[in-house]
Amino acid sequence: MKNRADKFYDKLAESYDLLTKSGPNVWTPPKLIESEVFNLISKNSKIIDIGIGTGQAIEKVYQTRTFSSITGVDISKKMISICKEKFDGIDLIKIDSLSDLKKIKNAYDLVICSGTFEFFENAEIFFEQCHRLLNKSGYLIFTYEPIILFHLIQKDEISNNISGNSEFQVDGFFTKRYKPSTINKLLSSNKFNVLKDEEFISYKKNDSNIIYHLIVCKKI
Ligand SMILES: C[S@@+](CC[C@H](N)C(=O)[O-])C[C@H]1O[C@@H](n2cnc3c(N)ncnc32)[C@H](O)[C@@H]1O
Repeated sequence: MKNRADKFYDKLAESYDLLTKSGPNVWTPPKLIESEVFNLISKNSKIIDIGIGTGQAIEKVYQTRTFSSITGVDISKKMISICKEKFDGIDLIKIDSLSDLKKIKNAYDLVICSGTFEFFENAEIFFEQCHRLLNKSGYLIFTYEPIILFHLIQKDEISNNISGNSEFQVDGFFTKRYKPSTINKLLSSNKFNVLKDEEFISYKKNDSNIIYHLIVCKKI
């Protein structure tokens, strides 16, 4: 079943930075990813951000110019156009599904994916393509939502996303969660070696903390 994340983010795009950057529901994945990125890059690094959105996870890297190139990929036309306004030196590609990653040439030292994995219909394609996109010994940094027994929201493998604001409501927009053991198996079968796996609070939904995993791994 196709996830209509594209429709949701097209609606949210104009307000995305405002709603995520401050206040009680502040969005933390970009900052955590960014600090891992700085441990791995140099002025020669070619970086690709899958689900780049408005570019929050590459903002500091862009400002410090510690890269050779940054490519951003997203399913939402509107998120891409906001990203383009903010960062004119980034190569941006609109895709219709993860399979479109197959059209991108493999030449990257680092793949990042911040707060986007939960919207993928097919995790296997994502890992396969990350492996293909990376140069020898390249790195992948991403976040995912785990299934958490007894958690009010994260106990379910799939949830239809209900927006608190009816203006942003989209049918067919869902979040997918995984057991950490499933992610570890997928990483190993797609030839990635896990260097770091940490839990963190990504944001607050109503009164619940939403927990993510941050994974840093290396292509074998
Ligand atoms: C929560 S936002 C995260 C944006 C940015 N990475 C950040 O951390 O602020 C999720 C982004 O993933 C994009 N997205 C959702 N499904 C996608 C897919 N299948 N392929 C590429 N991008 C996708 C959305 O359009 C949106 O821009």
